[in-house]
Formats: sequence, structure tokens, C-alpha cells
Amino acid sequence: MELSPSHCRRQQHNIGFLKLFVVSVLSCVTLHVSDPDVPSSLKTLSLEGHFSFHDTSDAAKDFGNRFRFLSSAVLHPKSVADISAAVKHVFRMGLSSKLTVAARGHGHSLQGQAQAPGGIVIQMESLREPETRVHVGDSPYLDASGGELWIDVLLESLKHGLAPKSWTDYLHLTVGGTLSNAGISGQVFRHGPQISNVHQLQVVTGEGEIVNCSAEENADLFYGVLGGLGQFGIITSARIALEPAPKMVKWIRVLYSDFTSFTEDQEMLISAEKTFDYIEGFVMINRTGLLNNWRSSFNPQDPVQASQFNSDGRILFCLEMTKNFNPDESDVMNQEVGTLLSKLRYIPSTLFRSEVSYLEFLDRVHVSEVKLRSQGLWEVPHPWLNLFIPRTRIHDFAKEVFGKILPDSSNGPILLYPLNKSKWDNRTSAVIPDEEVFYLVAFLSSAPPSSDHASLELALKQNDKILDFCEKAGIQVKQYLPHYTTKEEWKAHFGASWEIFARRKAIYDPLAILTPGQRIFQKAVLSS
Ligand SMILES: Cc1cc2nc3c(=O)[nH]c(=O)nc-3n(C[C@H](O)[C@H](O)[C@H](O)COP(=O)(O)OP(=O)(O)OC[C@H]3O[C@@H](n4cnc5c(N)ncnc54)[C@H](O)[C@@H]3O)c2cc1C
Ligand SMILES: *[C@@H]1O[C@H](CO)[C@@H](O)[C@H](O)[C@H]1NC(C)=O
Ligand SMILES: *[C@@H]1O[C@H](CO)[C@@H](O)[C@H](O)[C@H]1NC(C)=O
Ligand SMILES: *[C@@H]1O[C@H](CO)[C@@H](O)[C@H](O)[C@H]1NC(C)=O
Ligand SMILES: *[C@@H]1O[C@H](CO)[C@@H](O)[C@H](O)[C@H]1NC(C)=O
Repeated sequence: MELSPSHCRRQQHNIGFLKLFVVSVLSCVTLHVSDPDVPSSLKTLSLEGHFSFHDTSDAAKDFGNRFRFLSSAVLHPKSVADISAAVKHVFRMGLSSKLTVAARGHGHSLQGQAQAPGGIVIQMESLREPETRVHVGDSPYLDASGGELWIDVLLESLKHGLAPKSWTDYLHLTVGGTLSNAGISGQVFRHGPQISNVHQLQVVTGEGEIVNCSAEENADLFYGVLGGLGQFGIITSARIALEPAPKMVKWIRVLYSDFTSFTEDQEMLISAEKTFDYIEGFVMINRTGLLNNWRSSFNPQDPVQASQFNSDGRILFCLEMTKNFNPDESDVMNQEVGTLLSKLRYIPSTLFRSEVSYLEFLDRVHVSEVKLRSQGLWEVPHPWLNLFIPRTRIHDFAKEVFGKILPDSSNGPILLYPLNKSKWDNRTSAVIPDEEVFYLVAFLSSAPPSSDHASLELALKQNDKILDFCEKAGIQVKQYLPHYTTKEEWKAHFGASWEIFARRKAIYDPLAILTPGQRIFQKAVLSS
């Protein structure tokens, strides 16, 4: 089911010379900004790809399904030169133009971050340059276009027996999209986020310049762009570190009823020398007797039996881990897994194991996407909240949030697993808490429109309650995939690194043309 404008209340505002049509259904907002001069000025550009001006509504959709800001034009670039030409054109229009430019990856943002109200959206998936190419050798790597999906990066690398080291849980996301955030999953404790596994980028800056950057060359731009929320440049290609790919993974889930044992075991595992290759965890709250079917639909494979364990009205914590192996090493692998499991304090009857191919494991969420789509449950509002919580406060957080604020976890999975700061490069733009170990706590709620739309409102209210609690309790929480609406909030988010972030903006995108959907900087426009 999808929210369509016919369900929306229509309001019309006049703001300056722009006509804004604001259409809203609860928190779903569609904003149409029309500027008759846009098409004629852009039509003068000579491009290998093309602009479309008529139906821009697809480019105004995202996974969050709550915000829809229509752009005036959508660029389908064929080359990096197309992207450079478009940005340069807007840059040269200077302060007389209010045009902005947003790169759109796979549109899996949650609150309109890849949208450009009245501006230009660049559909990065159209960019087929450079062709994805694997370089084998002692330190193998791959060059991929910024609009490439991670699943395609994986398939190409696997042809050479290789694979990237660090992942997201879901692979139908783009290289440029996740590198603009961080890219995190159960491998981060060992390899760091995806932004720690990139050697070099090619970027189109806010002035339309095409620049190569790396730790050696244009390092300030390189680190700025990584986790930079699209503020300093459009990533047109990335050089990604690879490693030999295992053929198989042992996939294990165990349950805990005691939060302290659960987190102590997780922390022990991420700091151990010999350990698993992937470590995550999630929370199942069954106070209302309704338990989280969504997670089971997310993982229809064997390990899902863990969620069929009778939780009997309790809160349970599921530790999920994998060990990579090749079929001829399966005895050694089983021994190592046995040793590791013997150190853990899970409920003994809750050990769930299976063996799947590496590809099947990494692409696990896609299976659920297909299933949810077939039930009309994919393109629904997703009021997600992703938080980084310092280790020293995770118990206070859990006690209040799982013990009191959330009645159950039936709206979607709640992920919870620790990460080690040492694997994050503090020169990047990514923002994390100032503690050696911190937790990702991800509330991945789904709000299918019910008769009274209550579920979206309720989920948003719960998110607010969680954030309010953190503020009152003085928990130095940082949002991942952050969403703020005022500059004050953004300054607080960046804390001591705000000055660097703002300085980089002034250097690489001085007119604030790029990625307006993050709502960090506003393009200055001379009023006429
Ligand atoms: C089902 C699902 C599971 C997910 N799981 C994880 C997870 O496990 N770990 C994790 O880290 N994240 C996860 N994410 C979040 C994901 O990282 C974000 O959605 C992110 O925005 C990437 O999506 P995208 O490629 O579609 O980018 P978009 O949403 O299209 O873009 C994201 C932002 O980056 C900008 N941008 C896009 N492309 C470029 C580019 N080439 N250059 C510069 N800026 C660009 C956009 O303007 C926008 O501001 C998940 C999302 C979904 C929907
Ligand atoms: C940028 O890097 C690419 C890929 O390594 C290379 O082909 C290109 O020549 C470089 N461009 C500049 C200007 O150095
Ligand atoms: C975090 O990583 C550093 C460096 O690898 C290590 O020394 C430290 O023990 C780790 N801390 C924890 C709590 O895992
Ligand atoms: C949730 O708790 C109820 C009892 O309150 C129980 O009947 C049900 O089986 C539990 N569900 C799961 C999946 O554990
Ligand atoms: C960044 O990390 C390096 C070492 O990893 C450290 O020496 C430096 O002080 C850190 N800088 C900041 C600003 O925290």
C-alpha cells in the first residue's frame, strides 16, 4: 500500500516567487516547488545522458515514505562529465538561482535526504562509469561507480573469489549512499565501517570540479566526503578494499533473558582475538504477547527458529553471529565455534545453527524484501530510529527503553550490538560517541497504514520519548542516519567537529548547492 496524493489534504502557500503546494497526510509531506525557468536553462547543456522534467515524482520517493519534495528536474547521467556539467551550471548561476542538486542512490533514505525541493535530482544508478572492475593481487580492490548497488559489487567480486570486507545488513543500497553515512553491520568490530575500507574516491564538488581524493591526495576532501552526508561532493566512484571470500558461513543464534550476560558476551566476543566474523544482536519484547514477526520474515532461513522459542511474556535478547569457512575446513571451523560457544552464557536450549553460502548470508534481507513487497508491506512508512549509545550508559538505556517505553517489538526488529571506536577513523565526517565501545541500537519500525494511521503516530511518539529520555538522563547519544531540522541541533550533533564540517562546506560547496535534503545548510539566494 502506498500513500497517494489523493489521500492527502491539499494546502497552497505562496512563498516569494515560488508556489508551494504542500500536501500532507499526517507526517507524509509532498512539496511541489515549481520554477518555470528551470527546464529552459538546463536544456542548453550538452550531455551524454538526459534530463527529464515531467515526471519527477519517483525521484521524490524514499524508503521512509514520509517526505516527498518534488524536484524540477531529474538527471539521468551517462558520464561523470554529465554530473560535473550539471553542478557547474548551477554553480555558475550563483546566488540568483535557488536551484540545488541532490544525488539519489537507491532512495533508501528515511526522511527525504536524497531529495531536492524544486532542484535537480541526479539518479546515480544511471551512471555506468567507471565499469566495475576488480584488481587482484596482494591487496585486492575494486573500482565501482558511486551509483552501483552493493549486491552488484559483491557479485562482481565473487567472480574472482573476492569480496568487500565490511557490509550493511541489506545490499540493495548504493556505494555512494552508504559511504555518505558510514555503512555498518556485524563486521564493523573487526574491519570498521565501510568508510574505513575505501582507498580512493572520485568526487564532483559543489563547484562542479571532478577531483580524485585519497589519504595521500586531497585528503581533507576524502575524509570529509566519507560520512559527509553528501555535503561536500557527489561520489562518482570508489576504490573498495577486498579480501578472499569464504564459500560458506555457519550462522548461529542464541537467546538470553539477562541483558547483562548478553552484552558482556557481545563485548567479550568483539574484543577476543579468535572470534566470529560477524556479531550482531537484537531485542525481542513480548510483554503484550505479540511478538515480532517482521524479523522472522526478514530471515526465513533456518536460524529463524530462534524467534519461535516461547518467550512467555519476557524480554529476550538474541545474539547472532557467523563464522566463515570453506567446505574442506569444516571440522576446524566446528571446533572453533564449539570453543567460542562454550564461553557464552545463553539459555542452553536456544542454540540455533545453520550453514548457508556467503552470498545467501550477505543477501539475507533481500529475501524478506521480496516477501514483504508481495504482501504490500515494503512501501509503507518507516519511522526508523538509529542510535549510537555509549557503553557506560547502555544498561540505563535498556532499562528505561525496553523495560518501560516500548510495550513490545511487534513493529519491527530492534538491533543492538557493540562497536569499537578504534576501527573508526576520526578524520572522516562520521559522528560517533566519545567512548571506546558504543552500541548501535536500531529501531527498525514499519508503519503500514492502518484504518486510523495510529501506528505511524505511535512509532514517532515512541522515538521522541526515547530521545527525550536520553536527553534528560544525560546519555551522550548520537544518531546514525541523523535527521534534524535546525542548525542548532546539527551543531550539537557534530559537537567539536562542527567547525571542521562547516569549514569543509565553505571550501567544497561554497554556495550550498549539494544535498539540501539533509537540512544542514541552506543555499543563500539573492532576493529579487
Ligand atoms: C532495508 C534497509 C536496510 C538497511 N541496513 C543498513 C545497515 O545494515 N547498515 C547501514 O549502515 N545502513 C543501512 N541502511 C541505511 C542505508 O545506509 C541508507 O538508506 C543510505 O541512505 C543508503 O541508501 P541509498 O544508497 O539508497 O542512498 P540514498 O538514500 O539515495 O542517499 C543517501 C544520502 O546520500 C546522498 N548520496 C547518495 N548517493 C550519493 C553519492 N554518490 N555521492 C554523494 N552523496 C550521495 C543522498 O543525497 C542522501 O543524502 C539500510 C536501509 C534499508 C532501507
Ligand atoms: C582519477 O583516478 C582515475 C582512476 O584511478 C584515473 O583514471 C584518472 O586519471 C584520475 N584523474 C586525475 C585527474 O588524476
Ligand atoms: C577496542 O579495540 C582496541 C584496538 O583494537 C583494543 O585494544 C581494545 O581492547 C578494544 N576494546 C574493547 C572493549 O573491545
Ligand atoms: C509471547 O508471550 C506470550 C505469553 O505472554 C506467549 O504465549 C507467546 O508464545 C510468546 N511469543 C513468542 C514468540 O515467544
Ligand atoms: C584521532 O585519532 C588519533 C589516533 O588514532 C589521535 O592521535 C588523535 O588525537 C585523534 N584526534 C581527535 C581530534 O580526536
